[in-house]
Amino acid sequence: MSEVPSPLADRSVAAIVVAAGTGTRAGKDLPKQYVRWRGKPVLRHSVERLLDAGCAPVMVAIAPGADELAAEAVGDLEGVAFCTGGDTRQQSVANALERLAGAVPSIILIHDAARPIVPNAVVERLVDALSGSPGAIPTLPVVDSLAVARDGLMGDKADRDTLRRVQTPQAFRFPEILAAHRDWGGTPDAGDDAQVLRAHGGKIALVEGDEALKKLTFAEDFELDRPAIRTGMGFD
Ligand code: CTP
Ligand code: MG
Repeated sequence: MSEVPSPLADRSVAAIVVAAGTGTRAGKDLPKQYVRWRGKPVLRHSVERLLDAGCAPVMVAIAPGADELAAEAVGDLEGVAFCTGGDTRQQSVANALERLAGAVPSIILIHDAARPIVPNAVVERLVDALSGSPGAIPTLPVVDSLAVARDGLMGDKADRDTLRRVQTPQAFRFPEILAAHRDWGGTPDAGDDAQVLRAHGGKIALVEGDEALKKLTFAEDFELDRPAIRTGMGFD
């Protein structure tokens, strides 16, 4: 697809794309991952980006009953497989990990379907970081000043220098993240997969994220000219 060489070279990297949510906050007629954005379903963007980066297979977790929508969005792409998602994102990831457990890829990228732009450079940084730790996540600094909200009034200042915005894809050595998810068992919700692995004792490296990885969450995020989405796009 792309003429840029795959950032993964000869490494065996699989991917999970979680696409079993309902997209309630976006308030669209369809779950947001199936809504067309820049000419194709959001899910197709994210899956194509991971295939293009060299991930295989790309396991897509979909909601029960969404088979037709998913097949329409990405069913024609070589290297894509489907599994059934769960009631929570964490359960969707756990189901997908179990489906891949027999194949035992060395590395897994876990990604939100709702983040349609995945820069190859981020994938490269993540996979490189796995030589030093079992997990790696893309993060960005917080630029606004922060305060705790208390009953509609301003509370204490929060220290933004210690905080990071966390994105996906998140990258893991496969056996470690599978064991961590099995150990966690699904509840309470850990927030993301990196926290599941961290609770299991795994160190998580922070690599530089990208504004282009923004998650489509609200209806206005689907408008084409939002500067936050336009930034750093490099789009086909
Ligand atoms: N997701 C999933 N299974 C769930 C819930 C969420 O696979 N049970 C996926 C979503 O499809 C999405 C990603 O997790 O790609 C991130 O979740 P979010 O942005 O919260 O999506 P939704 O849960 O669909 O949206 P909302 O919270 O607004 O309903
Ligand atoms: Mg959600």
